[in-house]
Amino acid sequence: MEYISIAPGMDFSRIIQGFWRLGQWNLSNKELRGFLEGCLERGVNTFDTAEIYGESESLLGKVLPELKRSDYKLVTKTGISIKKTPEGAFGYYDTRYRHMIEACKASIQRLKCEYIDLYLIHREDPLLDPEEAADAFKELKRQGLIREAGVSNFDPFKFQALNEYMDGELRTNQIEWNPCCFEHFESGMMDLLTAKKIHPMIWSPLSGGRLFTSNDEVYVKAREKFSEIAKEKGVLVETLVYAWIMYHPVGAMPLAGSSRLARLDNAIAALKVELEHAEWYELYVASGQKTLR
Ligand SMILES: NC(=O)c1ccc[n+]([C@@H]2O[C@H](COP(=O)([O-])OP(=O)(O)OC[C@H]3O[C@@H](n4cnc5c(N)ncnc54)[C@H](OP(=O)(O)O)[C@@H]3O)[C@@H](O)[C@H]2O)c1
Repeated sequence: MEYISIAPGMDFSRIIQGFWRLGQWNLSNKELRGFLEGCLERGVNTFDTAEIYGESESLLGKVLPELKRSDYKLVTKTGISIKKTPEGAFGYYDTRYRHMIEACKASIQRLKCEYIDLYLIHREDPLLDPEEAADAFKELKRQGLIREAGVSNFDPFKFQALNEYMDGELRTNQIEWNPCCFEHFESGMMDLLTAKKIHPMIWSPLSGGRLFTSNDEVYVKAREKFSEIAKEKGVLVETLVYAWIMYHPVGAMPLAGSSRLARLDNAIAALKVELEHAEWYELYVASGQKTLR
């Protein structure tokens, strides 16, 4: 396994295990413990969840106290709230000071850990007050409830605004990137992170599985080119996707989302794949969404 220093004294495994879908995995506590231990045996020391991922935090909290706290890094997120309305649930954002403090304490209770290694604001909030959110992060750090702070799904403008109030200490932006999604190449976020040497965490690197199953044209076209190059290299398509993501100079950390350790192995295998420079561009344009000018 490779490790990336996201802050002084904090090394994240290059491949991170995500737990968004944990509630659907139907694992017993014993099975979940086995899964977590399997991650650690493979050197995957970083686990990602969020307060909004259903039961994910609570399920992890049933097992994490059985592991040695210094063996793993925990990432969770705040900022999405749900209001129950007669029509159903209405999701909205809350990055106010009091909410961030209380939400963090509630996550720590559910996770049954003493602190969170990296605490993220989950989504861009149109009502974000960067000074107030930075004050909340700083207070959580002061109380020892979080070690580091970052964001997810931010555009460059909001990232810069908050980072200024954080004295340049936002540690990541967790963003979506896969063979069919290039939003953060278009926004300039990838350039900003590369220039600032801030490593993004990449969510849904396999398009949430749609890369393998969808009949939409973009997925079919991407699947064809990835399959062709994967075959030439004698690796699986998913392994090639991870290698393609990690080739970028930004030093991205992909989040594996599968319930199966065998698929985590396929992600880890990407660390040994050698990609030719020209191949990266062939894969970049494969879905038809990007062109080279
Ligand atoms: N910050 C955010 O806004 C945000 C949003 C979404 C996710 N995330 C984080 O990113 C993590 C990863 O996201 P993700 O779960 O969408 O990642 P992903 O790896 O793109 O998708 C995982 C899904 O793809 C399926 N899959 C994997 N390999 C497959 C194959 N060869 N054929 C068919 N299906 C396959 C998996 O099924 P199996 O389980 O059966 O293998 C699983 O359902 C999440 O757990 C979460 O921590 C963050």
